[in-house]
Amino acid sequence: EKGGYEHFMLKEIYEQPDTIFDCLRGRLLPQTGQIIMSGVDNHIDALKNAQRILIVACGTSWHAGLIAEYQIEELCRIPVEVEYASEFRYRNPVINKGDVIIAISQSGETADTLVALESAKEKGAFIFGVVNAVGSSIARLSHAGAYTHAGPEIGVASTKAFTGQLAVLIMMALKIGYAKGTIEESRYLSLMKELEAVPEKVKEILADTSNIQRIAKKYKDASDFLFLGRGYNFPVALEGALKLKEISYIHAEGYPAAEMKHGPIALVDDKLPVVFVATKDSYYEKIVSNVQEIKARKGMVIAVATTNDNIIPGMADDVMFVPDTDEVIAPLLSTIPLQLLSYYVGLAKGLDVDKPRNLAKSVTVE
Ligand code: F6R
Repeated sequence: EKGGYEHFMLKEIYEQPDTIFDCLRGRLLPQTGQIIMSGVDNHIDALKNAQRILIVACGTSWHAGLIAEYQIEELCRIPVEVEYASEFRYRNPVINKGDVIIAISQSGETADTLVALESAKEKGAFIFGVVNAVGSSIARLSHAGAYTHAGPEIGVASTKAFTGQLAVLIMMALKIGYAKGTIEESRYLSLMKELEAVPEKVKEILADTSNIQRIAKKYKDASDFLFLGRGYNFPVALEGALKLKEISYIHAEGYPAAEMKHGPIALVDDKLPVVFVATKDSYYEKIVSNVQEIKARKGMVIAVATTNDNIIPGMADDVMFVPDTDEVIAPLLSTIPLQLLSYYVGLAKGLDVDKPRNLAKSVTVE
């Protein structure tokens, strides 16, 4: 059942070239310039005319929502707010006519998300579900939706469901932006091509993980980790920290890299590993100076960098490379080494990576 892998988590990490491909298949058609998603097509007016999009989710799915916020605001020019379902539910949120709620959930059974959606639905919101489990409660409650097609996820820590969510959300942003006219045709087509190339690029990252395994062993006894990123890679940093916490029980925090100087930099010493998600994008030069700030304080820097980068590898203590892509698509690649890092740290510590203590796969209590 684990297909020859030692753990479900590793199997599910390795399934991603196929699960992302399955998610794109029949939907993303760069040759004709079309993206076919019936849930979006049937409600395109509600989506493109939305005054505001609210994204409601928990945990890793909430991180996918943060990435979608950046993508939708850039490509569709619609204001987006990303809400923790548990907070959204209890603070009597303002929901106006014309607001669209995107609910993101792997299991489709998360109680906090489900209850939040039920009350928003009563108030007249239009609910679009991005769900993995077919026929689940959240899928049934939604007015429309798109499945992520990642297949059953058994490992408690979400991996392939997360990249499936990212694939669906970027296709939605591209579709809505194109229908709205807020994305230029050439950018639309080039992003489609970049997205089509993702499964092969994920395969490249997975082809040789010996360097990541070495890094995991080197840092496995650290008591804390920081994860930093900017722009599209900021939520990737949050997700990297969550994954490490869950799988290795090492305390980890994610921050936008520039927030360091507003407090967390006080933590930096020669024992603190700082993971920078620092791929080549429009924030690159800024993040290079953030790396310098950490090195000047003797922090140990582990960087996720773009394959052809010749600056960051000279500054970082250790580097995990990912292939180049457009920054809008980058999280689909930059998250993969961080999944592997958590897995191998957990493994090196002899922990039960598929069933971390205190965690349940599907959180059906509020
Ligand atoms: C983290 C993880 C959790 C879930 C969260 C939401 O690895 O798996 O944070 O992402 O409990 O679950 P779903 O997506 O099923 O609503």
